[in-house]
Amino acid sequence: EVFRDSGQASIAVAHEIADLMREKAGAGEPCILGLATGSSPIRVYAELVRLHREEGLDFSHVITFNLDEYFQLPRGSRHSYWYFMHQHLFNHVNVKPKNIHIPLGTIALEDVYEHCMAYEKAIREAGGLDFQLLGIGRTGHVGFNEPGSHRRSLTRLITLDHLTRVDAAADFQGISNVPSRAITMGIQTINQARRIVLLAWGHKKAEIIQRTIEGERTSEIPATYLQDHPNVTVLLDEESSAEL
Ligand code: GLP
Repeated sequence: EVFRDSGQASIAVAHEIADLMREKAGAGEPCILGLATGSSPIRVYAELVRLHREEGLDFSHVITFNLDEYFQLPRGSRHSYWYFMHQHLFNHVNVKPKNIHIPLGTIALEDVYEHCMAYEKAIREAGGLDFQLLGIGRTGHVGFNEPGSHRRSLTRLITLDHLTRVDAAADFQGISNVPSRAITMGIQTINQARRIVLLAWGHKKAEIIQRTIEGERTSEIPATYLQDHPNVTVLLDEESSAEL
C-alpha cells in the first residue's frame, strides 16, 4: 500500500493495532504484539500514545515482544532498544512492566542460547504473536536477520553487517561505538505471527523494497521470506515505492 506520506501511513497502522487491541479486549483475550525499533515506527507509537491519552486506549491486557536488542549494551544506555521503547511508548501507556519482553543484551555469552530459547518459549506460551510490526534495513534485514539468515531461523545472537553499522553510526556518534552483534528474533519467529505489517519510508529504502517485493526469495535478502507469509502488508510512501 502506497501512501502519500509516512505520517498518514503511520496513523493507519496505529489504528489497525488499536482495533486489534479493542477486539482482543472484547473477547477477554490478551493482545500479543511484536514491536520494532528504528525511526520508521516512531509515529506509529506516537499515535498509540495519543489514542491512550485522548481516547483511553487500554494497554493493560497487551503483551509485547520486541524484535531485537544490541548485544552487550546495558538497558540503561540511551542507544539500547529497551531505552527506545520506553521513551517512545512504554513510559506513556498503561502496559504492565511484566508484560514487556525485550531480549537482554547484557546476557553472558554462555547463557545466550538458553536466553533465546526462553524468549521463543515465552512467545509460544503467550499464544503466539497476533501482530508483528517491522521496519527494514538496507541489507534486507528484518529485526536483525542479516543476509545469510535461514528462513527457519529462531531467536539468536547475530553479527551485524557493515552497512547496518554504517547506518547506525550517526546515532552512536561514530561506527566504532556501534555494537558488532545483536540478539534478534529469527525469520521463522517473525513469520509465525498471524499478521505482519512492514514499514519503509524515504528514497534510501526504494532499492531494498523493490528487491524484497519483486525479487526471488533468497537468504541474501532475508526480508524476501516475508513472501511466504499469507497476511503481510508493506506500507510505503511515494519515495520508498519509487523502484516498484
Ligand atoms: C535497525 C533495527 C531494525 C530496523 C532497521 C531500520 O537495524 N534492528 O528492526 O528495521 O534498523 O531502521 P529505520 O527504521 O531507522 O530505517
